Amino acid sequence: MESENGPHDSLSRRSLLGQAIGAAGIVSALQSARPANAQTPLAGDGRARVRESFDFGWKFLKADAPGAEQPGFDDSNWRNLDLPHDWSIEGPFSEQPGSATFAHLPTGIGWYRKHFSMPGSFRNRKGTIDFDGVYQNSEVWINGQYLGKRPYGYISFHYDLTPYLNMGGENVIAVKVDNSHQPNCRWYSGSGIYRHTWLLVTNPAHVAHWGTFVTTPEVAEAASIVQVKTMVQNEGKSAVTCTLSTTVLDRDGKVIRTADASQSIAANAGYEFVQQIRVERPNLWSIGNPYLYKVRSKLKDQDRVVDEYDTPFGIRSIEFDADKGCLLNGKPVKLNGVCLHHEAGSVGAAVPERVWERRLELLKAMGCNSIRTSHNPYAPEFLDLCDRMGFLVMSEAFDEWKVAKPQTPDYGYRIYFDEWSERDVTSFIHRDRNHPSVALWSAGNEVVDQVVPAGVETLRRLLAIFHREDPTRLVTVGCDRIVAEPEAVSNEFLELLDVVGYNYVDRWRDRAQKYYSIDRHAFPHRKVIGTESPSMGGVRGDYRWAFPQTAQSGMRGMGGNRGVDVERLWSFVRTYDYVSGDHMWTGIDYLGESGWPAKSSSAGVLDTCGFEKDGYYFYQSQWTTKPMIHLFPHWNWKGKEGEFIPVLCYTNCDTVELFLNGKSLGVQGYWFPLSGMENKYGNFPARAGAARTTADLHLTWTVPYQPGTLKAVGVKDGKVVSEVEITTVGEPAAIGLSVDRSAIFADRRDVAHVTVQILDAQGRVVPDAANEVTFRIQGAGKIIGLDNGNPVSHEDFKGDRRKAFNGLCLAIVQSAAKPGRIQMTATSPGLQSGSITITTSGA
Ligand code: GAL
Repeated sequence: MESENGPHDSLSRRSLLGQAIGAAGIVSALQSARPANAQTPLAGDGRARVRESFDFGWKFLKADAPGAEQPGFDDSNWRNLDLPHDWSIEGPFSEQPGSATFAHLPTGIGWYRKHFSMPGSFRNRKGTIDFDGVYQNSEVWINGQYLGKRPYGYISFHYDLTPYLNMGGENVIAVKVDNSHQPNCRWYSGSGIYRHTWLLVTNPAHVAHWGTFVTTPEVAEAASIVQVKTMVQNEGKSAVTCTLSTTVLDRDGKVIRTADASQSIAANAGYEFVQQIRVERPNLWSIGNPYLYKVRSKLKDQDRVVDEYDTPFGIRSIEFDADKGCLLNGKPVKLNGVCLHHEAGSVGAAVPERVWERRLELLKAMGCNSIRTSHNPYAPEFLDLCDRMGFLVMSEAFDEWKVAKPQTPDYGYRIYFDEWSERDVTSFIHRDRNHPSVALWSAGNEVVDQVVPAGVETLRRLLAIFHREDPTRLVTVGCDRIVAEPEAVSNEFLELLDVVGYNYVDRWRDRAQKYYSIDRHAFPHRKVIGTESPSMGGVRGDYRWAFPQTAQSGMRGMGGNRGVDVERLWSFVRTYDYVSGDHMWTGIDYLGESGWPAKSSSAGVLDTCGFEKDGYYFYQSQWTTKPMIHLFPHWNWKGKEGEFIPVLCYTNCDTVELFLNGKSLGVQGYWFPLSGMENKYGNFPARAGAARTTADLHLTWTVPYQPGTLKAVGVKDGKVVSEVEITTVGEPAAIGLSVDRSAIFADRRDVAHVTVQILDAQGRVVPDAANEVTFRIQGAGKIIGLDNGNPVSHEDFKGDRRKAFNGLCLAIVQSAAKPGRIQMTATSPGLQSGSITITTSGA
């Protein structure tokens, strides 16, 4: 059994549940995982549809190579590698004109080639190659024949190889990637075939590529209706009479119901089946219960099964209401959202699925329930994870339409827009329209077209395409010109949107509430969502803000105005139902959009390693209810004895009492200025007793520094529910290693994240340690990324050493194909070394 999402599914389910490999697709991917440069045969079995990874065994040259499309071209000196591959992340960093957008990393032109054989048993069948993403301007040849080009580097695309494939013989595929024209993107794009590739073999009569569209026109707890539109193509030489059996299966594979329909389809024609299936007492998909069903499409020609194809989906309804905000299955849900970019620090744009899974786990633990895929289509497995983990997604298509942005004056998407945007939007929607996580489409971000008169027409045209391809979802745009002049243009633009996306309502201080409130009165029919707003970002562990007399200008921090603005905005958003929610910029630090020497933006509440910054806990205090307290800054301020240090606290407790070396510094708690307002703390002021209260969303004490222990004791409903300490620690003495999973799969894809801590003699993290750590790895794996989250570090992401940054660094370790043990040791002069073992296993 194969499914379009099969291999992704299997990979993540394994890493999520730690189960054994089960899917045939993976097994054959492993069988074909031979040393690079070897030909990769595809299993020629009797399956109606074969979809296998095409990632292993490519050749690569980081230069232009005229003639490399020819099958006989000599590539013997090219580098052997596996996909996904991003050549930019391999460095080195260097400041170049315009390089702030792409993290000061190399771009340029690269070529990939792969030699492979196809079994003779595939004669008379169709062969298709899928590219999930190639950045950018790819051109593809098979056996010297040109298949086409695809400029947009974030879109998935595919080519029919059938006319040129040598079934039963050798084949060469060649891909030219041209990312030389810079800057073409406002953030780090990566370069190369940086997402997965797939080889698909079907029969001439088959379900079309991305040819199923599952919707749930009626959703209710008693019963729901699932509608399945299936486009069947007959690319054979004669007509076929097809029977399509469409079955809904539950999570355990139990058949719920099947619908059958028959149709004669002429040669070279297509037919769209429309079937409806009733599901009694459905398990509704939601953030807390991300229950996935499956549609199995079985296509028969007479008695022969000619195609069999699975589509995961969820039963859920999603609405945006002008008064009530976002409704999931009819119930209001405030979107606790973050914006993300598509890369993941040290691995660049070639992100192993487990790296995303860990990042999403961290965001989930923060209470995040909504992701904005700023500002481009993401990898399909990212949406698979959101489906399974229970995130809503605002999926965005573009950052630029017809008018250039200042950062990309010559080579932004603008130059492709007229020719490609309809095709790109159509591919974008067809690939992703079955994901229950996708709650909303976004046609663009801060497009300059918002304020040029022709922009209204461009929007109208795009909206027509979105609505035509997916009539079930609403469309927004992240707008930063809410009050732009001339107002008429802006309002016409905004009025066309299904949901109005507000970017930076707080761009001018104190305006957040005003923009939302003014617009609420002027346009009460508007459906409103916060698409982008500032976050509690900043550099992890940088506490210069606590010492304003010595702080450098330009520095941001929780103690600054920014923190107060973020708190005010969130207070507003959580109070008013009509604002569907907010997406802060950003959940995680990202590469690029940063002037030298910085290579990454510090807007995230997780750094590029996924280490939590203090701001992470602000959101956790607002978005979760399990009692938590976070105290900061650290308590290692040698030389500052007696100086006043602001101690800040994020908590969801009612009150917190702070103690320094056993002496109480008083009780603090929250006060809500809106009388009668319902909030999660209930009628707090009446209960607070002697506590000093605040309308801010943090608590604070000003503490004259003395070394020792700060202890916070949190009370909720009259009971102590949480206690947290921070202590003055000693000098660096040892390296501590810990791993997120000590057993991973031996599949050349799975990864383990090794966190490195610099510890004092008593095993406590030294919060400002910067010791350089050297890694040695032996056995069944390799390091694919080293990072420390320091935005100005120019150390090699791919080397064997890394300085700790404020006490921490991270190594990402990937398995080899052969099961075994990975032994990692970490050493640093003067420190006790650390070591860790990871085991890898196969099916
Ligand atoms: C926004 C934009 C983001 C990012 C951010 C930086 O206006 O939409 O892509 O550039 O500013 O603060």
